[in-house]
Amino acid sequence: MDAKLEPEIHLEVQRYYGETLETSSDLKTNACCTESELPEHVKAALAEVHDEVKARYYGCGFVIPEALAGARILDLGCGAGQDCYLLSKMVGPRGRIVGVDMTPEQLAVARRHREYHADKFGHDTSNVEFIEGNIEHLENLGLDDASFDLIVSNCVVNLATDKEAVLENAYRLLRPGGEFHFADIYADRRVPSVLKQDPVLYGECLAGAMYWNDFLNTAKSAGFADPRLVDDRPVTVTDPALVERLGGLVFYSATYSLFRLAGLEPACEDYGQTVEYRGTVDYCPERLVLDKHHVFETGKQVRVCGNTYKMLAESRFSAHFRYSGEGDRHYGIFPGCGHTLPFAAGEAVESGGSCC
Ligand SMILES: C[S@@+](CC[C@H](N)C(=O)[O-])C[C@H]1O[C@@H](n2cnc3c(N)ncnc32)[C@H](O)[C@@H]1O
Repeated sequence: MDAKLEPEIHLEVQRYYGETLETSSDLKTNACCTESELPEHVKAALAEVHDEVKARYYGCGFVIPEALAGARILDLGCGAGQDCYLLSKMVGPRGRIVGVDMTPEQLAVARRHREYHADKFGHDTSNVEFIEGNIEHLENLGLDDASFDLIVSNCVVNLATDKEAVLENAYRLLRPGGEFHFADIYADRRVPSVLKQDPVLYGECLAGAMYWNDFLNTAKSAGFADPRLVDDRPVTVTDPALVERLGGLVFYSATYSLFRLAGLEPACEDYGQTVEYRGTVDYCPERLVLDKHHVFETGKQVRVCGNTYKMLAESRFSAHFRYSGEGDRHYGIFPGCGHTLPFAAGEAVESGGSCC
């Protein structure tokens, strides 16, 4: 995209989320609405979130992963703060949440309800802080390198004009073993530049969406060697005028998990290692989901590739598993490491993507 347009696009996005949209029901597609079933503990927390915050939720996925007690979390493009407040409850009083957004109207709603949520969740003081700023220039916000356990974002990266900068800074701000867990909109091919000039298509999170394979390569270049798909669903564009303008492009909402871990390999390699989930993560006594292809049943020993082993042993999940295998002997490519399109619609089609 032409760099000269960057400030203009940011102004349009600010206008869209600050003035044009008043509530989630003003959206013209279902791109920014989460439909997936929430876990019970998240539903219970959502019931405690202030109505004004919920009314201005424009997310497209679910970004509340497991094992968060005491975590320090950054939310990129936090909007009116719904995910920040859900995370505030999950991390508890020892955790911290920092939300960053560039639209003052969104932040005003978020900030208004800090004390309300601290009271609801039984925290002496709020563990949530909101910063006005541009997620493409996180270096200007005084955040320390390697200072976050988790970074989340919900339907925002598509709106950034410099997506490489967002991913590179997320990598820098995560501690080793930390995770960028975020939902966004992706396209099945590169979106023609002309559509990026349309403020509605852009504001609705469609025209700025990355082609999924460009995203995977950009994430890898930023240091996230093995992006994992967690969840995905097609986006339905119902407005006939928008459908016509989009000319056959297909969009998906997807949540990805990107771990900052040294030594992750480009493919899933077999070192004969196994893991066993201990059933100890809060709210997950029976099974723990790492990503779409890795659901660990409590007490069941399973063989995993070297990358998956690292994602568990060197992250916040470390104490919740038993491990075996030193990883000093290589047995070749991990069995069943298929290469599939990252979205359900293309599951049977051979292509690049996350594996095992
Ligand atoms: C689709 S809304 C999602 C808001 C929030 N994550 C939620 O789930 O409700 C997009 C948000 O991203 C913010 N945003 C877009 N581009 C941004 C940027 N470059 N820097 C900071 N915030 C940005 C907008 O101001 C808006 O609040």
